Amino acid sequence: MFITFEGVEGSGKSTQAKLLAELLTKIGHKVTLTREPGWGQLGELIRKVILDERSLELDPFSELCLFCADRVQHVRDFIKPKLQAGEIVICDRYYDSTVVYQGNGRKLDKRLVNKMAKASTLELIPDITFLLNLPVRTGLTRLQSRGDITKMDEEPLEFHELIRQGYMLIAGREPNRIKKINADRDIVEIHNEIRSIAIESISLKSKS
Ligand SMILES: Nc1ncnc2c1ncn2[C@@H]1O[C@H](COP(=O)(O)OP(=O)(O)OP(=O)(O)O)[C@@H](O)[C@H]1O
Ligand SMILES: [Mg+2]
Repeated sequence: MFITFEGVEGSGKSTQAKLLAELLTKIGHKVTLTREPGWGQLGELIRKVILDERSLELDPFSELCLFCADRVQHVRDFIKPKLQAGEIVICDRYYDSTVVYQGNGRKLDKRLVNKMAKASTLELIPDITFLLNLPVRTGLTRLQSRGDITKMDEEPLEFHELIRQGYMLIAGREPNRIKKINADRDIVEIHNEIRSIAIESISLKSKS
């Protein structure tokens, strides 16, 4: 079972991914929580280049290639082996992020972005994706109180609006996989909704 979390900056992805991982562990599943970008030795370097190095002005196409390179290693060397061992893997951001950030946000050729993003999954598509839907400004305000601001967070408001719109478009195209969750609520309320959807999907999958 492969579950991913998506949404604009500060929408609560990490908070909810952690709560879901804890809950599923508590009820007896073996769960791995991971995130993108930044798995492993290469991933850590790539994450630094993409999100931290303010002196580096990356071309959007280079950025796309780096996100995809990070994902290929992550899927091949970490996520797939965990899934094959029967674990539930929860990933904080995955290929939908590439589709919307590089396609809608950076305005690269959408067909190229979709093709590269898809290829970088090595055909591993999530069983469920929780899309935390939150007004951009609310997310950015939450981040200011949290701290730990990345280069991506510092993009102008219009950029983040394009991301939110991009997410809405892909959610409309794949309503079975992508579950839109109202993230403008209390943490526990959001968790309860995510929890019931996840538990139902896990039980359906185990019967199939
Ligand atoms: N439902 C909520 N209501 C209010 N504050 C929240 C809620 N969910 C998370 N937060 C707080 O908002 C901040 C951002 O949450 P979190 O780090 O989970 O978001 P994120 O989507 O992972 O952000 P990023 O895009 O930077 O990875 C944190 O300080 C967190 O405690
Ligand atoms: Mg996060």
